[in-house]
Amino acid sequence: MTSQEIRAKFLKFFKSKGHTIISSASLIPSETDPTVLFTTAGMHPLVPYLLGEDHPGGRRVANSQKCIRTGDIDEVGDESHLTFFEMLGNWSFGDYFKKETIEWSFEFLTSPKWLGIDSKRITITVFEGNQDAPCDEESAKIWQSLGIPKEKIFYKGREDNWWGPAGAIGPCGPDTEMFINGTEIWNDVFMEYNKTAEGKFEPLKQKNVDTGMGLERIAMVMQGVSSVYETDLFAPVVAKIKSQILNLKSNEKSIRIIADHIKASVFIIADGVITSNVGRGYVLRRLIRRAVRHGKLLGIEKDFTKEIAEVVVDIYKEHYPEVKNNESRIMNELENEEKRFKKTLERGLKEFEKNVDPFILFTTYGFPIELTQELAKEKGIEVNIGKFNEQLKQHQEFSRTASAGMFKGGLADASKQTTKYHTATHLLLSGLRKILGDDTIQKGSNITAERLRFDFNYSQKMTDEQIKKVEDLVNQKIQEKIPVEMIEMPKEEALKKVKISFDASKYSGIVKIYKIDDFSVELCGGPHVANTGELGRFKIIKEEASSAGVRRIKAVLE
Ligand code: ALA
Repeated sequence: MTSQEIRAKFLKFFKSKGHTIISSASLIPSETDPTVLFTTAGMHPLVPYLLGEDHPGGRRVANSQKCIRTGDIDEVGDESHLTFFEMLGNWSFGDYFKKETIEWSFEFLTSPKWLGIDSKRITITVFEGNQDAPCDEESAKIWQSLGIPKEKIFYKGREDNWWGPAGAIGPCGPDTEMFINGTEIWNDVFMEYNKTAEGKFEPLKQKNVDTGMGLERIAMVMQGVSSVYETDLFAPVVAKIKSQILNLKSNEKSIRIIADHIKASVFIIADGVITSNVGRGYVLRRLIRRAVRHGKLLGIEKDFTKEIAEVVVDIYKEHYPEVKNNESRIMNELENEEKRFKKTLERGLKEFEKNVDPFILFTTYGFPIELTQELAKEKGIEVNIGKFNEQLKQHQEFSRTASAGMFKGGLADASKQTTKYHTATHLLLSGLRKILGDDTIQKGSNITAERLRFDFNYSQKMTDEQIKKVEDLVNQKIQEKIPVEMIEMPKEEALKKVKISFDASKYSGIVKIYKIDDFSVELCGGPHVANTGELGRFKIIKEEASSAGVRRIKAVLE
């Protein structure tokens, strides 16, 4: 059975059990959620609904969610651990609980109509209980009622059979896991608790279910292979890597690491991340560079990441069109990072042989610390990670201060692209006023060279139609190629002419008004473009809640 078929069957099965099928959320959690760097599980984007908010799809939803887990990176290359994987999940927001959940997991796995796995191959674990929650006898009994013998049900502690929260706080609870051939394939979590900042476990208002089955792992079972890399989600990638290897002493683990890391990079870039030395960009950099280094270990001399990525895009383009839609960006990013890294790799490796400081390798040669550690391990050298972290902290504090003026994307930054976004922001505000009402005011604005972010007062989610109207209006004003006029006048006079939606006290004396026909008149320090025709195409990429009564739009100029 192909993984496409497994995915489709899963969604069909839960649809037949009254679930709304939702699409995968982005790998990048929403900005309002500081708990994790990447989406690590299907439940993660659903946390507000597990906490009691109404989901537009109702109280039963299911999907296949893209996930990134970097915690397992050292295990990548074994049979079943991956950085990027798909999680098939079904959720109950205060609707069904243990009985239905377990019965459906069992039915989907074993019924000949669905996966048809022999139930004798399945073993189960349940939560044994601790001070926070009692032993989950109820789940064990349900499994037994379905024919799983007692001796195949094991009781485990918090380490194994408790899930969540996804970050430091949030919904969590005991779980019951299904194993085949010693590999965990599916986890049914019964989220009854909310872990608070004080470390307490409070009962949730509603009892929820959160399940997750690794698509790659279940594909391994269904395809009768002994590792996820042999499934159809990986085999073509692995074959492509093998075709590039010139020296014969190929190392299976390096091949797997490359396959895993390039795939993860493809999806991370598709969701908008670019390489950098911090946060997500650093994870991306680390993945690409580690893949390139393992390519070197395999004797691959030419640039290869792009060709491997093409195979990845091919496998996923139907179910995740974003990989196809962003193909050229993905390829450029990979190619550039590969080239950048190769340039410094040779030099860096020489320095490494001389036992240079890991911190210098990091700042001067772009060696992720994990790479230095890996190289050091191969040579039996110990890396002083504590010292490195200390140096890094100081460095980051320094660069934060140093870059604050240069890159803050605020008014001090007059680069061409941010200038365009300043003007686009004015057009957007006027567009919103026309469509949502004249009392729309700015509640916040943040501009970088990549996008604008704009907060404004509005009490509901904007409809697709409203978003489109605003977008069209802004684009119309861009197409009209309107000159942007700057008029200077005393602040008092200016305040009579324009609607101020921010604290104007920072302005005094003579101020600037930027005027775009009668469409937009704003008090603003600038900078702005001379003509709206310079902006390109305006596109709203996100509309979401920012805080109570405040919406946030992210938009780009293409
Ligand atoms: N959230 C659960 C997991 O990731 C289903 O295993």
